[in-house]
Amino acid sequence: MQSYSLIAPAKINLYLEIIGDRPDGFHELVMIMQSVGLADRLDIQPSDTQKIQIYCDHPQVPTDKTNLAYRAARLMCDTFPQMYANYGGVSIRIEKNIPVAAGLAGGSGNAAAVLVGINLLWKLGLAQPELQDLAAGLGSDIPFCISGGTAIATGRGEKLDDLQPLGNMWVVLAKYDNISVSTPWAYQTYRQQYSETYISDQARIAARTAKVSSGSLVKAIAHHHNSEIGKLIHNDLEKVVLPTYSQVAQLKAAFAAQNVLGTMMSGSGPTVFALCASEAKAIAVQQQVKSQIADPQLQFWVTKLATTGIQIKA
Ligand code: C5P
Repeated sequence: MQSYSLIAPAKINLYLEIIGDRPDGFHELVMIMQSVGLADRLDIQPSDTQKIQIYCDHPQVPTDKTNLAYRAARLMCDTFPQMYANYGGVSIRIEKNIPVAAGLAGGSGNAAAVLVGINLLWKLGLAQPELQDLAAGLGSDIPFCISGGTAIATGRGEKLDDLQPLGNMWVVLAKYDNISVSTPWAYQTYRQQYSETYISDQARIAARTAKVSSGSLVKAIAHHHNSEIGKLIHNDLEKVVLPTYSQVAQLKAAFAAQNVLGTMMSGSGPTVFALCASEAKAIAVQQQVKSQIADPQLQFWVTKLATTGIQIKA
């Protein structure tokens, strides 16, 4: 029986600017998204029944209908009922390497892999933009997780413009196992504190987006000016998460003291990343910060920036 193994990379945000409220209750954003080498692996195959079955080696990951990978499979069954009737359900095995609830789009990446995998399994022949349209209904980050690399994301985060892919930097990721930040909480708190800065006028939103698209960070990415990139990274959500979670703020300060190219929280956190020019530097930074903070709850990963999204493993 045909089965597919897929690699689903994590993402970090090199830029996250909150522009305003949207009529759908979400926020209008401009982000620069970046895939990294740390990745989950998913094995997808037809099941003997009509069921969608999820298996995962990580105890914190739900295997029921609340799992985004389950919801992605459900969406495919509902969108292509004839294929679902022909092929039956799917069995999805997730090998979890990306930390959970971390601001690294681990769950979104799993959902992206399920959409790509079922497209192959059922021989649907959907092109990447068609899969991304379906993905946008499930979660704002999922379209990016499909194509990956380096991209500007606008709207809710689902509208993508690819940038010159960056692959020549290393990154140290660090996350406290015992801290998780609710993404809705982070956005709501931002709204409470900064809504006077919000804009809703479409022309002004377009102007803000255009400013980022032609701005210094995008230029630095185009020219692979890594030290410039490190200086220009930005995340509005740090303004609400760092004052509330002092350990996350201290972690960022510890990275900043290591003379890294740049350091920032990813997405709504609590993962903090540090950009480094080489693997040796990234390992040295990891060791230094680990010995300074010396908290067994603090986990580290050293990985490289990645130039692709979901990959099919031979
Ligand atoms: O789309 P996703 O499920 O990743 O969003 C999680 C939560 O983050 C949303 O429920 C919303 O509270 C917030 N969000 C937002 N605006 C966005 C994306 C996410 O307010 N553009």
